Order: sequence, then C-alpha cells, then structure tokens
Amino acid sequence: MPQPHLRTVVVLAAGEGKRMKSSLPKVLHPLLGRTLLGHVLAAAAPLRADRTVVVVGHGADQVRAHLAEIAPFATPVLQAQQLGTGHAVRIALDAVPDAAGTVVVINGDVPLLRPETVAALVEAHEGAGAAATVLAAEVPDPTGLGRIVRDADGRLAQIVEERDATPEQRALREINAGIYAFDVARLRDALGKLSTDNDQGEEYLTDVFGLLRDAGEPVAVYCAADHVETLGCNDRVELAALRRLLRDRVNEGWMRSGVSILDPHTTWIDVTVTVERDAVLDQNTQLQGATAVGAGAVVGPDVTLIDTTVGEGATVLRSHAVGAEVGPQATVGPYAYLRPESRLARKAKVGTFVETKKATIGEGSKVPHLSYVGDATIGEHSNIGAATVFVNYDGVRKHHTTIGSHARTGADNMFVAPVEVGDGAYTAAGSVIIADVPPGAMAVARGQQRNVEGWVLRKRAGTPAAEAAQRAREGASGGAAAASEGEPIHGSAETVGGPLNAGDTATE
Ligand code: UD1
Ligand code: CA
Repeated sequence: MPQPHLRTVVVLAAGEGKRMKSSLPKVLHPLLGRTLLGHVLAAAAPLRADRTVVVVGHGADQVRAHLAEIAPFATPVLQAQQLGTGHAVRIALDAVPDAAGTVVVINGDVPLLRPETVAALVEAHEGAGAAATVLAAEVPDPTGLGRIVRDADGRLAQIVEERDATPEQRALREINAGIYAFDVARLRDALGKLSTDNDQGEEYLTDVFGLLRDAGEPVAVYCAADHVETLGCNDRVELAALRRLLRDRVNEGWMRSGVSILDPHTTWIDVTVTVERDAVLDQNTQLQGATAVGAGAVVGPDVTLIDTTVGEGATVLRSHAVGAEVGPQATVGPYAYLRPESRLARKAKVGTFVETKKATIGEGSKVPHLSYVGDATIGEHSNIGAATVFVNYDGVRKHHTTIGSHARTGADNMFVAPVEVGDGAYTAAGSVIIADVPPGAMAVARGQQRNVEGWVLRKRAGTPAAEAAQRAREGASGGAAAASEGEPIHGSAETVGGPLNAGDTATE
C-alpha cells in the first residue's frame, strides 16, 4: 500500500490582483529576488510537504511556467473561474485524493511570511489536534481584511469578511492573515457544505471555521508575533511598502552577521544574495540574484551587482555588473560596466569608463581607463593602455583576442580580432593591431608623423595661435628667427615615441 501523504501545502494564486493594474499576474510581481509566489513557497519549504499544490487561474500559463522554473515539485491546478477561496481549496484537494494529515493553505500574496511562523502554526495545530487553525494578527489598520470574531470565552466563533461584518465586528483589529492549517478529512467535509450566501456570492474558505465550530470540532487561532509578516499585497503602493520592510529585515540580518551597511535605506539586497563578514556596503548599492560578496570586500557607493561574485577584499566603486566574477583584491571602477562572463582574477583591475564582456583578465593585469574588452583573454600582470578597443565584431561574427602575460600595450590601440599578442610583447600607442605580435616584440602599426614647420605662421597669420607660436620661436632663438619658409620635415622612422600608456602602468 502506498504511504498516505501526511502534509500538503496549498497556495492560492488564481486571483487577478485587479488593483495591481498589471498584465503580469499579481503573484508573479518581483520583490527583492523572488516573486510574491516564490516567497510564499520559500516560507512553506521547511514543512517538507509531501505535496505542494498551487491553484492557478489568471495568467495560468505564466504562473505554470514560473513554477516549472522555481518549484518543479509543485503541482499547478487550474481554477478556471475564481469562485472564492473555498472553491479554490476544494479544487486543490480534488487533485490530491490521497492526502491525509495536515493541509496548510496560504494566500499567494503574503511575501513577508517567515518559515518559522508557518512551522509554529502547524506545530500548534497538530499539537492541539485541532480541526482548523487560522493565523491571526493584531494590526493597526484592518481595512479590507477578514476579522477574527471570538465568543465570550475568547474562543474563535467565526471569521467575517469586512463587507459582511457588522459595525462592531469592523471595529475589531484582530485579522485573518489568510494562512491556515487544517485536518484534511474534516476540511473536505466542511468544504462540501459551503454556501455562497455572502456579499460577493463566493465560496469563502473562512466559513469553514464557523461550520466546524458549529459541528463541535475544535478550531483554533494562532497569533503571529509580528503582524508585518501577515501583510498582503493588493496594489503597487503596498508592494513598495513590502519591499521597504523586506529590505530592512534583510539588511538587519546581514548587519547582525558582521556586514557593514553604511546607509541601510539605500541598500537593497535580494534574499538570494550572500555577503561575508567585514564586507562594507556603501550607499546606493543593489545586490541582486545569485550575487555573492566576499569577506572584507568594499562595494559602493552607487553599485548594482546582478548574479556577480566579488572576491575577498575586492573593491567595486560606482559600477554595474551582470554575470561577472571579480577576483580577490581585484578593483573595479569608478564607472565600469562588467557584462556577462567577465572574469577578473586576483588583483586584476578594471578602471574608469571600461566595459568588459566575455573577457578573462589574469592575475594582476590592468585595464585602467576608457576601454572596451570583449571576447578576450588577457594573461597575468599585463597592462592595457588607455582608450583601447578589442575589435571583436566583424558585423556577422564575434572573434577572440588573446594578450599574453607581462605585455604592455600602448594607449589608443585597436586589437582587430582574431589576433594574438605574445608574452612580454609591447605595442606602440595609437596602433591598429591586425596581425599577431610575437612574444617580446614591439608592434608599431600607425602612420608616421610629419611636422610642416611654420605652417600656422603662414596659413593662420594674425590668430592667437600664430602669435603664440611667434613668441615661442623668439623666446627659443633670442628673438632672431623669423618664420621658416623651409620644406616640411618628416618624422624619423626610428621614432616609436609617445607614452605607451596614459596614466597607470602595470608597475604602479
Ligand atoms: C482573504 C480572506 C480574508 C483575509 C485575507 C488576508 C477569504 C474569504 N477571505 O480575503 O479573511 O483577511 O484573505 O489577505 O478567504 N484566490 C484564488 N481563487 C479564488 C479567490 C482567491 O486562488 O477564487 C486567491 C487569490 O489569488 C489570493 C488569495 O486567494 O492569493 C486570497 O484571495 P483574495 O481575493 O485576495 O481574498 P481577500 O479578499 O483578500
Ligand atoms: Ca487579498
């Protein structure tokens, strides 16, 4: 005989969420790293339910696709018409005929719910042998919510929707959070008796409590310690408020575990992110997705990291990174853009106004200024001159550039891929490198300089430039020389000339 299921989770997610005014179903709206539905499923995860059923309706295809991605273990069940929360649970249970024991029902739009709270609700319910237990909370503003109505002995009498409530009931501030534990057999029985005799003409799950109580079954209330956990999301103003609350909760958790957050109000960390001790997060920092920040790293101000790992002791300043790996003690920014598959090894540097993509930058190598590095491998301890472009795209395909170790490439170079620069090679400033450079060679690939002596004095006479030139000549030759009428002088072929790099070098 197959084992009966002992715990079943049912998430109600068929509603449209009209007040969101969105083409996206309400439960798919994101909130710091998960959808609303994702948060609810995460809160239920520690229950180790045998079955998880998600009731879908509005945007069912989108919700199903999302479930396949984040919770393939969950069974979506279609509620074609939203005839009420009771109707939704009835349909869900039809899909798990062998369910036994406890069924936990959670509204799909309570993303701040903590796993500990769901677990405590279930424990209280199972411990008391109750037929049904509702999670309740005392809230400052109960508007729009179902009220917990107690009898003279303080026991649950019924749950009344606001629109069906008397003025006295409306004054109650103890509300139904929309999270419940039921004994499945008694729930099935009560669901079969629901009426639609209410203001909305719907089957209310909440009516199960009154029905069970009237039948002499034990029903219970479990009070949430923190009412914030029970906050639902009905419009985008509430969504923003929930986001702020979750931000504060997440930030507090990281600060308590040894992370410095300099401005918690402008630091937004997805629940999926990890941050090690002694990391410092400066203001306006957003850490998203699978981002991980190592111990002692400094991130911010003004940084967005998406699916990016930052190694121990690295620094990322005023930059944006997606799918990148920043090695230990590497430095990024200010004003860098790391695109997917950018990999910076230990102590590598990507500096100011630099964009990288599919680029491996070896240990200690530097791309300090104003450059694009795409489809490239750079060895160790090499320096890429300012204003360099890795020309990776021929209009149809992308090509790879390889720079060896200990190379020094000049400022304003173009590496026209596919091309390779060997270990210890140099390239001259202003070069367009279209052919491989052997190890240790100096590549010069640019036009030669020609100075047309006296041109400004002849062709721009009377301008401030000509006057300045005249003064310079007089100064240089004690005032004796006049404008030369001589032939243009060509630059020497031996002169490579000019700094390789503007600013930083690999030896700094
Ligand atoms: C419900 C409760 C109310 C409680 C509140 C907490 C009922 C009758 N009322 O009210 O007591 O205070 O939650 O937030 O249950 N859903 C379906 N199918 C349906 C109807 C709803 O899947 O036919 C889903 C919705 O998508 C939503 C959840 O059930 O995730 C709650 O539905 P909603 O209409 O928001 O109920 P409330 O009126 O908020
Ligand atoms: Ca609601």
